[in-house]
Amino acid sequence: MPRKIIIDTDPGQDDAVAILLALASPAELEVLSVVTVAGNVPLAHTSVNGRKIVELAGRPDIPVYAGCERPMRRHLITAEHVHGKTGLDGPELPEPTIPLQAQHGVDYLVDTIRASEPGEITLCTLGPLTNVAMALIKAPEIAPKIREIVMMGGAYFEVGNITPAAEFNTYVDAEAADVVLRSGVPVTMAPLDVTHRALCNDIRLERIRALGNKAGNAVAAMLGFSERFDLKKYGWDGAPLHDPCVIAWLLWPEIFVHRKINVTMEISSPLTYGMTVADWWHVTDRPHNVTFLRDLDSDLFYERLTARLATLP
Ligand code: BDR
Ligand code: CA
Repeated sequence: MPRKIIIDTDPGQDDAVAILLALASPAELEVLSVVTVAGNVPLAHTSVNGRKIVELAGRPDIPVYAGCERPMRRHLITAEHVHGKTGLDGPELPEPTIPLQAQHGVDYLVDTIRASEPGEITLCTLGPLTNVAMALIKAPEIAPKIREIVMMGGAYFEVGNITPAAEFNTYVDAEAADVVLRSGVPVTMAPLDVTHRALCNDIRLERIRALGNKAGNAVAAMLGFSERFDLKKYGWDGAPLHDPCVIAWLLWPEIFVHRKINVTMEISSPLTYGMTVADWWHVTDRPHNVTFLRDLDSDLFYERLTARLATLP
């Protein structure tokens, strides 16, 4: 039986690749829906992009819901400098033909999880955690029903990518991340520590381009665009592919190195707001609330990702 997932996302080129990977894996994953949130770009763009991506995968049947247009307490911070004005700059994708669902994304999460069996639904979050935190606040009784939250966010050994101390998704809405980490729901975190091991170098990008299908061409164009900024910033020979690590964990946990630890959000210091304080060495007795992904076999990751993308239109 495929595992049922809901993808909460702010696409984003790397979000797009994660969604495509999930939709290319029907034997393992049943994607119930995509819920959008404000993050990389404002909600209006992420909601168009979410629909473009499910259509690119040949899956117009996947419902797309729009969630929150700003973080719980703060003003929205966006990342057009990485992702371009639309958030999905790079490929020429047709305007979506499917409508957005009428229901608000947070209400959809609450209703769907409420109606599910305990342990039935896994939430995959690829952006700020606003929608999930709002759902947990609105309906705390849904927490024990959620099988797991697998999130791209945070960093410890790699520190920050938007401030010296914080990763983008946890920085944009650290209060939301705090709600999630304290919710009691099992969390797996794909922080920069693992995503910085998943570098898309030229050889890997060319293999995706060489697939020659629509999805492969679009992914190559997306990553070609978004990596420019990162290559210059880091000076590495490839840019990190963050969000697909979430889906890869569900598909191939054996390629990851991980440890069960406590992670607590920093939400009060202006200097380190959004930092994920990870007790890697178990120096406190705080509860182990997170499976923290630390490393992965990047050759296997790209080999398997590319093979899955090949199965799409
Ligand atoms: C995260 O921030 C966004 O720019 C990416 O889509 C990813 O989710 C990486 O810090
Ligand atoms: Ca993202």
